[in-house]
Amino acid sequence: MPIDPVEIISQFYDPDSKLFTLLVEHSRKVAAKSLEIAKGVAHLNPDMDFIENAAMLHDIGIFKTSSPKIGCAGKYPYVCHGYLGRELLDGLGLPREFGLVSERHTGAGITLENIIEADLPLPHRDMVPVTLEEKIICCADKFYSKSPKKQNKVMTRKKIEKSLAKLNPGHAERFAAWADEFNL
Ligand SMILES: [Fe+2]
Repeated sequence: MPIDPVEIISQFYDPDSKLFTLLVEHSRKVAAKSLEIAKGVAHLNPDMDFIENAAMLHDIGIFKTSSPKIGCAGKYPYVCHGYLGRELLDGLGLPREFGLVSERHTGAGITLENIIEADLPLPHRDMVPVTLEEKIICCADKFYSKSPKKQNKVMTRKKIEKSLAKLNPGHAERFAAWADEFNL
């Protein structure tokens, strides 16, 4: 059955809200960038349809977090939006691959070790992209911020690595390896 990501987003976000517009615009940019990256590695046979839809849905969990800057008034820390998105997508009965893209896209993925060391408020499991499609969407997402000040900017590989390194050097290293693989 074909998936309509905007209809799915509309089940959780008021289509007249600023947050809906912000989420859909961000997701469209990430979907377009993901497809561009995927075309560059066509020999690896990425699933283009899946990439487009999963990229549209990767951030669906943000409304459950507290991020007043972008209009999210939920109770969870922002870092939780990936696995919360997975819960929503799994709950809709979508194939589990969709939820995994959401759970594994934050940072350059988050390792179980990262979660334990930094005592992150996340379930104790590895949340690093595994499949080609997961890696592509995670990388594409890093090029676009949702914060109002940076919304119209496209990040560069250098800037992404710098900001990921602040979180943890492992994040920057993982991203750099994928960026090499994808010629970013
Ligand atoms: Fe996200």
